[in-house]
Amino acid sequence: MDKYKNDYLTFYGENNISPVRQDINNFEQHCLRRKNLYRQLGIPVLALRNSEVLEVGAGSGYNTLTYFFLGGGVKNVDIVEPNPTGRIEINRLFEKYKITKDKYNCISSTIEEFATNKTYDFVIAEGFIPGLSNPKEILGILEKYTHKDSIIIITCVDEIGLYVERMKRLVAQYITKDIKELKLKVEKLLVIFKPQLEKLGASRKPEDWILDQLFNPSLLVRNDFTMKDELNFIMINLKY
Ligand SMILES: C[S@@+](CC[C@H](N)C(=O)[O-])C[C@H]1O[C@@H](n2cnc3c(N)ncnc32)[C@H](O)[C@@H]1O
Repeated sequence: MDKYKNDYLTFYGENNISPVRQDINNFEQHCLRRKNLYRQLGIPVLALRNSEVLEVGAGSGYNTLTYFFLGGGVKNVDIVEPNPTGRIEINRLFEKYKITKDKYNCISSTIEEFATNKTYDFVIAEGFIPGLSNPKEILGILEKYTHKDSIIIITCVDEIGLYVERMKRLVAQYITKDIKELKLKVEKLLVIFKPQLEKLGASRKPEDWILDQLFNPSLLVRNDFTMKDELNFIMINLKY
């Protein structure tokens, strides 16, 4: 797996974290958030019913969990997640919500090393491609697991969208420059950012947001993998 190490895997591995946990105590609201997102993407949740899903980089499985409930629920999800902390948290979360093992496979692999002859109705990779140095290669790999009517769901970002986040990062790094331990840096920054995140109604745990947005080096990758880039790549390379 070392050959395919990237900034996410190094940072998460060194700190034994999967900083994408969400507060889903109000589970109905969590599902509604996801339903609204899919509606914006033009995907009615009914399309999920009985579907076969491949999710790449599911983190701790908080978004994945909703697939079992939305639109009547998916048939099965294959989850490719190389981070051991993420896999532990996925299994723990799914057990809590009584998702049985026949409904999902949690595969310890990077997407580059994953191999199957299976194709899926949905191929989902949220919040990870723009932070990689090889986004086009990854998109090409995802396409291998689709069939004629499949839907690929990916995240894209551009420099303008990232600008404010990067400015917050600059401030955070400056404020904590004399603190050695990451845990103590996070504690200091919680005082500033927790009230702001609460005001925004963010579901992600503030300490995880701080770790991922303000310290994860993958946010500094400059790929400019914008929506335009992704669409061009899909239309030209994948011949849609
Ligand atoms: C920022 S997290 C996003 C988690 C989740 N999709 C979400 O949106 O909450 C990025 C995820 O991608 C995973 N990842 C990083 N490199 C990967 C690779 N080469 N193949 C598969 N997953 C990878 C990480 O372990 C992590 O779970």
